[in-house]
Amino acid sequence: MAHEYRHSGERHIRDSAYLERIHPDIRPVLLGMEAEADRDGLPITERPSTRLLSLVVRAMGARRALEIGTNIGYSAIASALAEGGELVTLDIDPEMHERARVNADRAGVGDKVTLVTGPALETLAGIEGPFDFAYIDADKGSYPQYLDAVVERLRPGGVVALDNLLWLGQAAHEPEDSDFHRESTPIIRAFNEAFLGDVRLDSTIVQVGDGIGLGIKRPSVD
Ligand SMILES: C[S@@+](CC[C@H](N)C(=O)[O-])C[C@H]1O[C@@H](n2cnc3c(N)ncnc32)[C@H](O)[C@@H]1O
Repeated sequence: MAHEYRHSGERHIRDSAYLERIHPDIRPVLLGMEAEADRDGLPITERPSTRLLSLVVRAMGARRALEIGTNIGYSAIASALAEGGELVTLDIDPEMHERARVNADRAGVGDKVTLVTGPALETLAGIEGPFDFAYIDADKGSYPQYLDAVVERLRPGGVVALDNLLWLGQAAHEPEDSDFHRESTPIIRAFNEAFLGDVRLDSTIVQVGDGIGLGIKRPSVD
């Protein structure tokens, strides 16, 4: 069994490297943000996940999006929004928002981005829907509350995406790497099962980056 895990891990790494080689180069402004995150050890979304999110936002023709967890603004949602669109993006850390503002302006989407600084569970109370698309990528322990707040604010047919649902491989394996993972892995596992069984959504979790959850709000849900 251990051998099969190793084999599939090696295959995943090879597949990822292959796909990276054949995709066209990403925009220099995004490369700059990747370098900024590498340099300062910041937890931005993985590049293949960002490509997927960007494609979903474009395919939907989304105009209004909500993001919980801005960091330096790498997720490229604002750039994917339709003409005249707005991304409302939340982060607890004012320094991240200063950096995200600079990066959004550099990317030419500063006019589409509204930054709301503070603990998201508090700031969400002042944010009104409807949104076409939402991306949850902040403190994992609050994912259930974030999902409730987002579903309330999504239009029927709107899409919610969530990052880190595979939790660096820990969701599928016994926690072993650190105390941090020991504590958080059961939280992620419980969340994943609740998310996939959530009657308000049609949902799936895809094995891209660190695991992206995608859910469509069912039309009959208010
Ligand atoms: C993984 S990063 C977000 C990455 C970003 N979506 C991207 O792709 O570049 C998570 C962010 O969530 C923020 N965060 C953590 N706890 C938070 C909270 N309670 N309320 C709002 N933001 C929070 C952190 O400051 C951090 O910048």
